[in-house]
Amino acid sequence: MSSSAPEHAASAPQCLQLNRFGQLRHFLSIEGLSRELLTEILDTADSFIEVGARSIKKVPLLRGKTVVNLFFEPSTRTRSTFELAAKRLSADVLNMDIRTSSTSKGESLLDMLRNMEAMASDMFVVRHAQSGAPHFIAQSVTPNVAVINAGDGRHAHPTQAMLDMLTIRQHKGSFENLTVAIIGDILHSRVARSQIQALRALGTPEVRVIAPNTLLPAEVERLGVKVYRDLKQGLKDVDVVMTLRLQKERMESALLPSEAEFYRLYGLSAEKLRWAKPDAIVMHPGPINRGVEIDSEVADSPQSVILNQVTNGIAVRMAVMSMAMSGQMAEMAASQEVRP
Ligand code: NCD
Repeated sequence: MSSSAPEHAASAPQCLQLNRFGQLRHFLSIEGLSRELLTEILDTADSFIEVGARSIKKVPLLRGKTVVNLFFEPSTRTRSTFELAAKRLSADVLNMDIRTSSTSKGESLLDMLRNMEAMASDMFVVRHAQSGAPHFIAQSVTPNVAVINAGDGRHAHPTQAMLDMLTIRQHKGSFENLTVAIIGDILHSRVARSQIQALRALGTPEVRVIAPNTLLPAEVERLGVKVYRDLKQGLKDVDVVMTLRLQKERMESALLPSEAEFYRLYGLSAEKLRWAKPDAIVMHPGPINRGVEIDSEVADSPQSVILNQVTNGIAVRMAVMSMAMSGQMAEMAASQEVRP
């Protein structure tokens, strides 16, 4: 990408995401979003769940709108559930395979975006290896286009966090009395960062991270979490256990002696899961590496809600896309009204 997305753009002002009425117009990160807004996303997603159970799985909310999926990094669940969500909202969907697009012939990201805009696109769903890329795009696009972050570097993965929150709410009712533990590669995980922000904003009293020092970000306590290096201590009295893949593609040097050693200390086996509450649920954003961060016995057990997370991804993405589109349209209408 010749027109680079600067890392500092990841901390761009929160107001970029919201229109003048405080409604979502882009969805770039959980950071700074209110409990009310996050709850509205969950409630809207709840209302879309039954659409997936209909024989005709469609509502007309994005009819006539064009959604462009721009995935610069590999993805299975996120890309396909974004596509399904857009189609269930009746949008026209364009999936750009970046490996075969002209950015691989040297076209800059901005030039590519301008071309997409010239095709009258209404929404870009962006996954990028560089933290801040979706913010950069949201700052650069024409004002009528909504941008949704589908994962940027190690910075944020807000729709993943919200589908995780929906899954927790479905199984545990509310966040108010919960103890949640996130195990493993916190350092490189955009998922963990967004999960922590969402859990805290929704009022979860105790969020723990359990990891070796080498997989924890500096000053991790500042995120509002309790830190455990020992899995047994960390899992005591826990209601929700979140496991994570080791993000080897983001590791600059060997941070672990070996996967076998990681599994021995932090891999979630049925035996270790017994250290948590007996009714604890087990989550994973996928893709799972069986026998590394999680055992098959746990991943396929009745305590696992991993496939519920995938199903909920469609409803959450429908919620975020429809809310951002209507926030964007409200902003456009208001800005036209004030024009002389
Ligand atoms: C995650 C991602 O891409 O950040 N996966 C996902 O979106 N479902 C986590 C991962 O790749 O490990």
